[in-house]
Amino acid sequence: MSITFSIKGTIDARRSARNYQMKPVDKDVMDAIKNFARAMPIPFDHHVTIRFFQADPTKVLYPFMKSPPNNIAFLSETDIIAISKVGFVGELLILYSQSKNLSTCWYGHYKLAELERLMPHLQSPDQLKEANTGFGYSKGETSGERAICITPLGYYEHSGLRLMDRITEKTVSHKRKEIIALLENQDDFSYLSDDILYALDLGRKAPSAGNSQMWRFGFDDSFNTITVAMPPGYQHFKWEHPNVDIGICACHVWLGLLDRGWQPTVKVCEEAGRAVWKISLA
Ligand SMILES: Cc1cc2nc3c(=O)[nH]c(=O)nc-3n(C[C@H](O)[C@H](O)[C@H](O)COP(=O)(O)O)c2cc1C
Repeated sequence: MSITFSIKGTIDARRSARNYQMKPVDKDVMDAIKNFARAMPIPFDHHVTIRFFQADPTKVLYPFMKSPPNNIAFLSETDIIAISKVGFVGELLILYSQSKNLSTCWYGHYKLAELERLMPHLQSPDQLKEANTGFGYSKGETSGERAICITPLGYYEHSGLRLMDRITEKTVSHKRKEIIALLENQDDFSYLSDDILYALDLGRKAPSAGNSQMWRFGFDDSFNTITVAMPPGYQHFKWEHPNVDIGICACHVWLGLLDRGWQPTVKVCEEAGRAVWKISLA
């Protein structure tokens, strides 16, 4: 498994962007992203569908934010494991895009009716009613393949009011918890090797809805396996699908171990109603 971009540099550079230039992505960069999307080095079986679509320069698809021309949708079935895999697969494409100097932002609360108009994908118009007050694919598990999340893909607009960015800066900070605060058992901290600490450091930098950082790290197999999951029973008052975020974090942890020269095996299973990722040094 080889990743050609700088893993740590790319993770450190990524930020959710909510202000874009209204110009399309250069063709050669777009071709590179589409090629990467077609042959992503994902270390497990999955059925995540990636669709590139165009949006109009209005504030309809994303609340308060004008859509740039290029956008990506990540689609899958809606069970816990499938949506968690969307997080993992989608984040790898988001990081690849970042390595090409493009900006992105995970959106779970996109306007479903507008997405359907721009990129027809629903099996029946009735499915529009499942969106939570019009946003996202549904409140919980439902039938068929859905757009779990979408992201704009484009060039950051540095000038202008950046109102949304300023609001977000105030309400949802970019700050991250320390590794020790993310351990299921804080006593484990002193047993962690440099490589594991490196991987967890990249894991804690993952994006999450509302910057909730709901992931917790545990260890199996004499510290040769890292587990990534939310605490059993975790619920967020606004975000219905935190297992997506857990997949994103698992992707960062996997990348961290790859970066240190390991070829980790990656498994995900359902335990206590949530996705549990197991990333093992091999
Ligand atoms: C699964 C997921 C869904 C998200 N949904 C939204 C959204 O609907 N609207 C939004 O403005 N930001 C959304 N975000 C972006 C987060 O607010 C952002 O990642 C977090 O505040 C951390 O900031 P950073 O990405 O700049 O590090 C989402 C992030 C994730 C991972």
